[in-house]
Amino acid sequence: MSALRTDLGEAVAAAFAAEGVDASTVRVTASDRPDLADFQSNAALALAKITKANPRELAGRVAARLEGDARLAAVEVAGPGFINLKVADAALAARAAEVAGDAERAGAEAVAGPRRVVIDFAGPNVAKPMHVGHLRSSIIGESLKRLFRFRGDTVWGDAHFGDWGFQMGLLITALTEEGRADAYLAEAGPHPSESPVTLEDLERLYPAAAARAKEEPEFRDRARKATAALQAGHTGYRALWAHFVAVSRTALEREFSALGVTFDLWNGESDADPLIPDMVADLKARGLAEFDQGAWIIRVTEEGEKRELAPLLLVSSEGSAMYGTTDLATILQRRREQDFDLVLYCVDARQGDHFEQVFRAAYKAGYAVPGQLEHAANGTMNGPDGKPFKTRAGGVLKLHDLITMATDKARERLREAHLGEDASAEEFEAIAHKVAVAALKFADLSNARTTSYVFDLDRFTSFEGKTGPYLLYQAVRIKSLLRKAADQGAAPGPIAVAEPAERDLALTLDAFEQAVDDAYAKRAPHVVAEHAYRLAQSFSKFYAACPVLAPGHEATRGSRLALSAAALRQLETALDLLGIDVPERM
Ligand code: ARG
Repeated sequence: MSALRTDLGEAVAAAFAAEGVDASTVRVTASDRPDLADFQSNAALALAKITKANPRELAGRVAARLEGDARLAAVEVAGPGFINLKVADAALAARAAEVAGDAERAGAEAVAGPRRVVIDFAGPNVAKPMHVGHLRSSIIGESLKRLFRFRGDTVWGDAHFGDWGFQMGLLITALTEEGRADAYLAEAGPHPSESPVTLEDLERLYPAAAARAKEEPEFRDRARKATAALQAGHTGYRALWAHFVAVSRTALEREFSALGVTFDLWNGESDADPLIPDMVADLKARGLAEFDQGAWIIRVTEEGEKRELAPLLLVSSEGSAMYGTTDLATILQRRREQDFDLVLYCVDARQGDHFEQVFRAAYKAGYAVPGQLEHAANGTMNGPDGKPFKTRAGGVLKLHDLITMATDKARERLREAHLGEDASAEEFEAIAHKVAVAALKFADLSNARTTSYVFDLDRFTSFEGKTGPYLLYQAVRIKSLLRKAADQGAAPGPIAVAEPAERDLALTLDAFEQAVDDAYAKRAPHVVAEHAYRLAQSFSKFYAACPVLAPGHEATRGSRLALSAAALRQLETALDLLGIDVPERM
């Protein structure tokens, strides 16, 4: 089963090839003039230039070859050589029926050659509360994880937990000062299995210690030494560290799950640490690492390159492994454990240079083949001032507070719109939560990954316009229509397509495959978001123009019910790819 657009593209390409031109790039696209045609091909213009033919004549000959195609109701040449295709109603109906019958994929295909893909996203850190800086990475990464899996790849979503840096030494030192780390100061165990800290402790201790380290060199020094001792394997510190990690992770998992974000792996930066000594030795032995001003570096600029990319810092002059060292070792670890074909790093664009350094170093060292490492960079969510979003008090907004804020707003919006009035208090809460998550995620994912956008909760939560709540509302409306039909004993039947709004809906259903394909190729969830919106609009027009349950012809009712069910399935599938859940009713 494939999309009409794909099949017709192949038919047009074959017709061009029969005219003796190189048709390898020939496709059809949705028509610019939907009032005149469904699809168009502009290929004659470019190809005629190459063969020095007259484009209109070439287009005419190709059109003549397409004449007998039963899928086409009309083939016309327009302007300087555009080929316009109007699809036969029967072909549209057959395609809509295929989509309707495709419970698994709603009309989108799987890739021919599945790959092994690691998606590194969210990147939360122990003890530091998750803030909006991690928001886009989490939302986009979750969506790409679903999209790649939907396409048929084997996918591991990895949180790449920041559990190994200086913040650990800060916490150990701060806790020691409070006299609460006594049981862990000695190497010899056993060390208590009960955590000496709660999440609140960590959230209080870390910012205070970080601020203090900036002011007091002596405190900073102690924290550094504690970090070094931990990393060198001090068993008491290790035991304490394990508590920090566990307490943080439990809290983070709860926050992520409220946002509908999950991971297959929670590998930490610490997990790559044991690989570092051998890796550094190997890089030195092969002359890839150079000793420079007391530190070990890997140079990554190419001969004759204009841009000066700083070298990757492998071992600092104090002898520590750095952020880039860990990322390099993590590539080795993933090579062993997942044997990846691709690693996608869904991380803020501001880390672009870092990844460029890591990737080049990894390619140089042969840890990956060029093309296997990719930074799927994202822009930021900004405040009205155009800078990364801050709370009114000027602090970073915690994810938990963001979700609470959005849910409060969602409740308000539901009440305004008189939605969820029949629901129990518990169901109403669940609906409000889904509306909130849909609002945040759709607002994020409807923007291109690399562009930044302005946080505007009022707009995001509106039931009107291009928003998550609007899409949920449309999906729920179809669900209630289908329930009503079932109550009346009306069943979906064979699809026939005649009215313009039916044709438009069938064409939109056909376009899903292309949207998924584009989104996959460009790591661009916004293309799926765009499709979901277009589908909701197309359904809405269809619903207004074509009464579904009105008394009358039973075959028409069956066909329209089947179209509605197909639209719902595809809309839910698209929303699921965005990580958005639809309530049963609202
Ligand atoms: N923990 C890092 C941060 O908060 C993000 C990690 C991104 N992933 C990576 N492999 N470096 O900035």
